[in-house]
Amino acid sequence: MCGIVGIVGSQPVSERLVDALKRLEYRGYDSAGVATIKDGELHRRRAEGKLVNLEGKLREEPLAGTIGIAHTRWATHGAPTERNAHPHFTDGVAVVHNGIIENFAELKAELASAGAEFQTETDTEVVAQLLASFRREGMGRREAMHAMLKRVSGAYALAVLFEDDPSTIMAARNGPPLAIGHGEGEMFLGSDAIALAPFTNEITYLVDGDWAVIGRASVHIFDIDGNLVTRPRQISMAAAYMIDKGNHRHFMEKEIHEQPEVISHALGHYVNFIENRVLPVSGVIDFAKVPSLAISACGTAYLAGLIGKYWFERYARLPVEIDVASEFRYREIPLSPQSAALFISQSGETADTLASLRYCKEHGLKIGAVVNTRESTIARESDAVFPILAGPEIGVASTKAFTCQLAVLASLAIAAGRARGTLGEEEEQAMVKSLAEMPRLMSRVLNSIQPKIEFLSRELAKCRDVLYLGRGTSFPLAMEGALKLKEISYIHAEGYAAGELKHGPIALIDENMPVIVIAPHDRFFDKTVSNMQEVAARGGRIILITDEKGAAATTLDTMHTIVLPNVDEIVAPMIFSLPVQLLAYHTAVFMGTDVDQPRNLAKSVTVE
Ligand code: F6R
Repeated sequence: MCGIVGIVGSQPVSERLVDALKRLEYRGYDSAGVATIKDGELHRRRAEGKLVNLEGKLREEPLAGTIGIAHTRWATHGAPTERNAHPHFTDGVAVVHNGIIENFAELKAELASAGAEFQTETDTEVVAQLLASFRREGMGRREAMHAMLKRVSGAYALAVLFEDDPSTIMAARNGPPLAIGHGEGEMFLGSDAIALAPFTNEITYLVDGDWAVIGRASVHIFDIDGNLVTRPRQISMAAAYMIDKGNHRHFMEKEIHEQPEVISHALGHYVNFIENRVLPVSGVIDFAKVPSLAISACGTAYLAGLIGKYWFERYARLPVEIDVASEFRYREIPLSPQSAALFISQSGETADTLASLRYCKEHGLKIGAVVNTRESTIARESDAVFPILAGPEIGVASTKAFTCQLAVLASLAIAAGRARGTLGEEEEQAMVKSLAEMPRLMSRVLNSIQPKIEFLSRELAKCRDVLYLGRGTSFPLAMEGALKLKEISYIHAEGYAAGELKHGPIALIDENMPVIVIAPHDRFFDKTVSNMQEVAARGGRIILITDEKGAAATTLDTMHTIVLPNVDEIVAPMIFSLPVQLLAYHTAVFMGTDVDQPRNLAKSVTVE
């Protein structure tokens, strides 16, 4: 989703602004722009499409100036054209914005009737127009900023330049994140700490309702009532991570191959490998006492939560209420204040997940966050943070964050089972031992299945539709497989509970429809094989993903079998994720799509 950067510098800024925008590319965008002030005048360059287009424009017509703001836009209101790209200029005011100004129509009508001429179809332009109109009325810059913030409603992260002040950027936050970076004689602004990592690791996050006046060597932060407030400076870890592809063609490929290492790192946080026990969950969430658990998240994180539900219910006998966050937040679910709620999010900034969290907080539940970005809003607003420690995930399609979320949820479910007395010591030790072996097994799988996957992906790349089936925890994994394939290859795919097949989707089966069946040799295996028989009987083309025991047990003449090592039930979803991710990845590579930044998608979804 949109990315914002700003520099109040002592050296020219335009190149550095574009470099910082590149570190926000992973969020997804479809146009970009940069503005600076030089010799008392605002100047800008904007371009449709990727940053190379903006760089081309800047090469032809460089932008001078030691202060500037820049933006990658993920279109919401108005097509992704150059005209709608930010920064928006109105009468000496430049604005970049991430979010949605919900009352823009009303404000636009009011401003237009007072003579304002709008140049774009965006909601953002009302911010520039409002500021300009307040300045024309004689307000000072800060006064105008404060008055504008009192008029707009919705979600925003904003950065503003006033032409008549070449030494200040103003910023505001209500929803999407915004971080101020403290440099030496220079100050920075960014949508996240990754954007600012090469400049500084000293970060101050604005909280909702804050607005800030950022000079070269100072920052003043105000609340919505105009009171000066203090926000802590923190040292960000973002600079510690190498944000490059290494020897890989895409970030997604790199992130798939990082999984053995990051999972091992994540597990180390939750598990005592010497005693093969999980570490008890201390703090505000007492799994022994909570009557139920609510889980909410979006997309892949939701599917991780769904697998978590199977585990919490089975191993800890803890009932779980789960829904996608966009439904959860409005469903008016009766929730007990004695319960706890878990919110799962890689970015920690997803608007619907954050809104669900706040809903649960209002209802008195204890809040746990399973997040990758520990400095995120979701983490900050939670009572307990369960980091997944996957490192920055840059590919838009989530891979290593998913399996790390699963590893953390598995550990928490075992910890809950232990706290509630529903898992015996031996059972716990056996499960932890399986978790401990997982990184090694993952490496083995990644090293062995590649040729088969590439061969099958070539076939999938020719298909229009693909069906994924699974039972138990393999059902959410089937949905995750379908999600992964559709988002990066644009092939239509559905994930179904294998037992649901005959209640509708079986009508789709013919010789053109590949059916990917995820079936470890678990207690559901025979039933899933029966469902496969139903597909085979109708000429369906089957790709069976199973383990050695499953491969030996099935006599079905399947189209193809991907054989994984035998694994315990608790680790199967993580191990079976690997072929599912690789199939989607290689299919997309064969199709030549933009794997890391698929069309229309954003990494951090900060609007509803
Ligand atoms: C799919 C994907 C998305 C995210 C979803 C939630 O590959 O990445 O479905 O899982 O947008 O994002 P987070 O986890 O940042 O809340």
